[in-house]
Amino acid sequence: MNYHKEIFSKEILENIVRNENGNYIDATCGDGGHTLAILSKLKTGFVLAVDIDAKAIEIAKKRLDKFSDRLILINGSYENLDLYCEKLNLKNIEGIIFDLGLRTSQIESERFSFRYGNAILDFRLSDDIDKQTAIGLLNFSSEKELITIFKEFGGIKDSKKLVKEILKYRNSKQIITHSDLNYIINKAFPYVNSDLIVQIYQAIRIAVNNELEVLKRGLFSAYKVLKVGGKMAVITFHSAEDRIVKTFFKSKKNFIYQDKLCWEVIKPFPFKPTEEEISKNPRARSAKLRIAQKVN
Ligand SMILES: C[S@@+](CC[C@H](N)C(=O)[O-])C[C@H]1O[C@@H](n2cnc3c(N)ncnc32)[C@H](O)[C@@H]1O
Repeated sequence: MNYHKEIFSKEILENIVRNENGNYIDATCGDGGHTLAILSKLKTGFVLAVDIDAKAIEIAKKRLDKFSDRLILINGSYENLDLYCEKLNLKNIEGIIFDLGLRTSQIESERFSFRYGNAILDFRLSDDIDKQTAIGLLNFSSEKELITIFKEFGGIKDSKKLVKEILKYRNSKQIITHSDLNYIINKAFPYVNSDLIVQIYQAIRIAVNNELEVLKRGLFSAYKVLKVGGKMAVITFHSAEDRIVKTFFKSKKNFIYQDKLCWEVIKPFPFKPTEEEISKNPRARSAKLRIAQKVN
């Protein structure tokens, strides 16, 4: 099987995994690459690995079978890390990693890739039937909401042009499939390239899953369970995500300690992938890794 190629493993192992007998959390387990690297370095330590996508947990379960006595896998959202730790009575967490975005098999799947014309516009990260899909978002959001989504989550400069075409289309019929969306994109931007389509799809995915708010809640939840002296690593692929992480690590106004410094940032500038990592995995080119130690 072709597993997702994880990045920054060296930096994570060097900075985060310092106690071979400690407990760690992988908040975004995916195909289990980082979890595997951490478990391989531990002697008696435990890993709690979480992913919102049930398929990822299935894959990781098989791949990490030989570590099953030191690994707990949970299919759920990292917003709830504190609840999972409480339920499992898991304490003294030495390190937590977040590797945001999608893994390769998700990016290339019918659900998220623009290459599958007949696919239904879903874009949910899990199969939670209570969550709205991209169909709901594209057909029922207001003009203003849509402009904000494409501008802020996709960095689309001319998002008004795109939204005008969306409104025109949905006046006569519903936007249901990837082909419908691709048709609209082509109407708005006749010379569109695949990078722009990817940005538009990404903006919709971030909005459907409320990813930036979920990230803020996830970071707070992780802060609660991390022990003082423990370290947190966050890999981002999107400038809005990176801004949230940077602010979170720098902010003195944490949710518990209003004016105490909660983090010591390990390096003032984020780690960037090496040329070698980028050549093996071109999607890594926009990745940034920030690491901080909890001091309060
Ligand atoms: C870039 S991949 C992680 C890859 C992983 N580090 C590996 O080595 O295979 C990001 C993962 O985060 C998961 N994810 C996204 N939002 C999540 C959330 N709110 N809670 C838990 N997992 C989430 C995705 O389903 C995806 O599998």
